[in-house]
Amino acid sequence: MTQRTALVTGGTGGIGSAIVRYLAGQGHKVATNYRDQAKAEAWQKVMAADGIDVCIVPGDVSDPAASESMIRAVEEKCGPVDILINNAGITRDSTFHKMSYQQWMDVVNTNLNACFNVTRPVIDGMRARKWGRIVQISSINGQKGQYGQANYAAAKAGMHGFSISLAQENAKFGITVNTVSPGYVGTDMVMAVPEEVREKIVAQIPVGRLGRPDEIAHAVAFFTGDQASWITGANLAINGGHYMGW
Ligand code: CAA
Repeated sequence: MTQRTALVTGGTGGIGSAIVRYLAGQGHKVATNYRDQAKAEAWQKVMAADGIDVCIVPGDVSDPAASESMIRAVEEKCGPVDILINNAGITRDSTFHKMSYQQWMDVVNTNLNACFNVTRPVIDGMRARKWGRIVQISSINGQKGQYGQANYAAAKAGMHGFSISLAQENAKFGITVNTVSPGYVGTDMVMAVPEEVREKIVAQIPVGRLGRPDEIAHAVAFFTGDQASWITGANLAINGGHYMGW
């Protein structure tokens, strides 16, 4: 397999860490961004102890200028980005009638506008090199909606609209653009949902349990391979059967 440089935004998080491990395990050079340096350095040490060398750079993906600097820093340390995983995401759950403008904007900026902020500085290089893999980490809740997540569901649905447009524009440049839509995975984000609410959600999952981060990472890595060169504009649901839309 060709060794490439991969950037996984939000790589220190639950699903992000699993994606970093998977791509590094395939021999790629992997980078991620951080906002909290001390936390990121501690995480980097844990990865290093497992034999995974990750390049970390500062960068807030909700900010266009910071994202541009982040990409230039990754390129300097690890080379041009061939694989981009737009994974960074946050929740600010609230029923809509109580939702503040800030809760709306925080989620839209970090989950959706980040796709512009981070992808825009890498797309010209991918087009020039005639190879690229871009994967958006969306969510089951962008597909089915979720009580208390008008902001998050809107942003996550928007990520797939972004994927399918970019897929069309860049197909002839050897660039594929796909979306993975995880269901409820046992990460800090999902464990922050009140227990009684979470139990009701798990009861709706036919497989009968939360997902594991590696079950998402496996599929993300599949999309980044050379063998996946004819898959573009797809949205792969990985949710234990929780939502089976077409
Ligand atoms: N369907 C119908 N009614 C629901 C409901 C649902 N799914 N969830 C809550 N309600 C009802 C409650 O029963 C309650 O009804 P009553 O007033 O009649 O008793 C009412 O809504 C509560 O509404 P409030 O506006 O007072 O809500 P709240 O302040 O108590 O909190 C909430 C509501 C924030 C949405 C909370 O229920 C919650 O955290 N829900 C989980 C949301 C969720 O799934 N988040 C996913 C986070 S993880 C993630 O996003 C990762 C991923 O991609 C999957």
